[in-house]
Amino acid sequence: MGKRCDDLELSINIGGKSFKNPVMVASGTFGFAEEYASYMNINEIGAVITKGITLKPTYGNPPPRIYESHGGILNSIGLQNPGIQEFIADKLPYLRTLKTHVIVNIAGKSLHEFEELAKRLDIEGITGIEVNVSCPNVEDGGIMFGKDPQLIEKITSLVKRSTSKAVIIKLTPETVDIESCARAAANGGADAISLINTIVGMAIDIRERKPFFKRVFAGLSGPAIKPIALAMVHRVSKAVNLPIIASGGIITGNDAIEFFMSGAAAVAIGTGNFIYPDCSIRVLNQIKHFLKENGYKSIREIGGISGE
Ligand SMILES: Cc1cc2nc3c(=O)[nH]c(=O)nc-3n(C[C@H](O)[C@H](O)[C@H](O)COP(=O)(O)O)c2cc1C
Repeated sequence: MGKRCDDLELSINIGGKSFKNPVMVASGTFGFAEEYASYMNINEIGAVITKGITLKPTYGNPPPRIYESHGGILNSIGLQNPGIQEFIADKLPYLRTLKTHVIVNIAGKSLHEFEELAKRLDIEGITGIEVNVSCPNVEDGGIMFGKDPQLIEKITSLVKRSTSKAVIIKLTPETVDIESCARAAANGGADAISLINTIVGMAIDIRERKPFFKRVFAGLSGPAIKPIALAMVHRVSKAVNLPIIASGGIITGNDAIEFFMSGAAAVAIGTGNFIYPDCSIRVLNQIKHFLKENGYKSIREIGGISGE
């Protein structure tokens, strides 16, 4: 009883490391994991991707920071985080107790900062570095790096040379040529690609006749962006031969299955964690259910679609 479920092969491989299943939690939506410990068994998911870390502590943008729109949210957090020193001293010890992989998301304002962050994180308890070249909510660097394939290649090779960890490059959808950005990451030696980050949007306070956010623009996430994310993942899967960690509106197992069929190796749950704190576990269970119901034995059997 329940044996078939146990027989399912869910493991995937990224950068030579084996992940027990392909369900992760997306950067910035799961804190440093401890915040979620009372809601779910974090060890059940394939990996935790931390909030983005910068060299110095970052206080983020002035409020308001979140706006609810149909099918999603706009956020203007501005990479608030304690900085690398405090991350290593105060957040990493808990993350090290987990029996799942830890991927640390990093954001730099210059090539040197990315290099420095990667070097300092080349320590025990971390499986991979996810390089955010795509944050829409900061002034320096952020999304600008992610639009320039040459810079993406430079950052990737610099980070790759600075660490023994798996290097994952997180791309922005804010480009007309996502394929070139993905190829640049591959040429720089990336082990995987993560996409999509949030899409630039805005909201207006009509009574005040002012932008809702102090920085005017913000990042849209949640189910509203899923079809865009799916198309981008599919395009990137055709352009490069690297595992893709997909994010963008994944709330259910069926959403995740669509992404696997479109070419993703793994999925990261983002805004879904704000709806159900244990969303990632729900998605994992729903994926298992789908596989069982449809006679699949392994997650690797479901990649690809016909009729293209
Ligand atoms: C509040 C919030 C904070 C985020 N912070 C980061 C971050 O620090 N670094 C990063 O690479 N992505 C960040 N993201 C992007 C998510 O990791 C994810 O790629 C994106 O939200 C799309 O997935 P979703 O629609 O499931 O939320 C953030 C998203 C949200 C909603």
